[in-house]
Amino acid sequence: MNIINGKEIADKLKAEIASEVQALRSDKGRAPHLAAILVGNDPASETYVKSKEKSCHEVGMSSSVYRLPETTSEAELLEAIDFINKDDEIDGLIVQLPVPKHIDVNKVISAIAPEKDVDGFHPMNVGRMVLGWPTYLPATPMGILLLLQRSGIETEGKRCVVVGRSNIVGTPVSIMLSRNQAGANCTVTLCHTRTKNLDAVCRTADILIVATGKCEAITAEYVKEGAVVIDVGIHRVPDSSKKSGFALKGDVKYDEVASRCSHITPVPGGVGPMTIIGLLKNTLSAFKGEIYPHE
Ligand code: GUN
Repeated sequence: MNIINGKEIADKLKAEIASEVQALRSDKGRAPHLAAILVGNDPASETYVKSKEKSCHEVGMSSSVYRLPETTSEAELLEAIDFINKDDEIDGLIVQLPVPKHIDVNKVISAIAPEKDVDGFHPMNVGRMVLGWPTYLPATPMGILLLLQRSGIETEGKRCVVVGRSNIVGTPVSIMLSRNQAGANCTVTLCHTRTKNLDAVCRTADILIVATGKCEAITAEYVKEGAVVIDVGIHRVPDSSKKSGFALKGDVKYDEVASRCSHITPVPGGVGPMTIIGLLKNTLSAFKGEIYPHE
């Protein structure tokens, strides 16, 4: 059994991005710039945004965070997005999700200029992804594909089962892995809360990708001997043996699943560190005008 070291792979990719940023900086007279909007005080979102900011600086990119109060109206948020859309010195813009309930998330996502949508959530970029056109691929699915690639895992013709159909992970990764291209070309089944005999379906998987959002839901009986298991979940569970008072667990019951696998991602240190890589790659791509060429 091989443990896929996401931290190590992410660090290597960060170094590659950093050297490209350094080379490009002098060309344009400035570094790539990622802006993030954070509405409200959700602690998890605050952590994610801080970590995105830190990673930008690690690779030599600039970043700015616009912190808006929980009471921000939809119109005010749309105005902030419009303001950043028009700023030529900002290459990428993300709005950290979730936004407060009184704001229509679809309006927010559609308001981001497609050429700055480095999350790849805008319908135009999702459409391009489905068609296999050049686009900003969403960060976590891109991170998963890179993990498979960098771990030397063959995907072509393999049976892949994705558990969870969210717009951010499950749905896009199922589409990306089924494309006719290198690092994809799988036969993909997308499972969700209405799937019957989930365990039996999961046991058909050569590559099992779990993004259910349910702590340790996938146990040994869901996993075929020799499968590759990618665990997207991350949960804090109380643990008095830890100094912090909690332990981090995934959507997969690691202790009983690991011994059955050919490869498995740990939590923490598997998919988590890779999610930022996609975002950095997309920001670099926006800076270079690779998807939507600059005039
Ligand atoms: N919330 C959870 N994941 C993401 C993500 O990838 N991007 C944004 N903007 N918000 C998120």
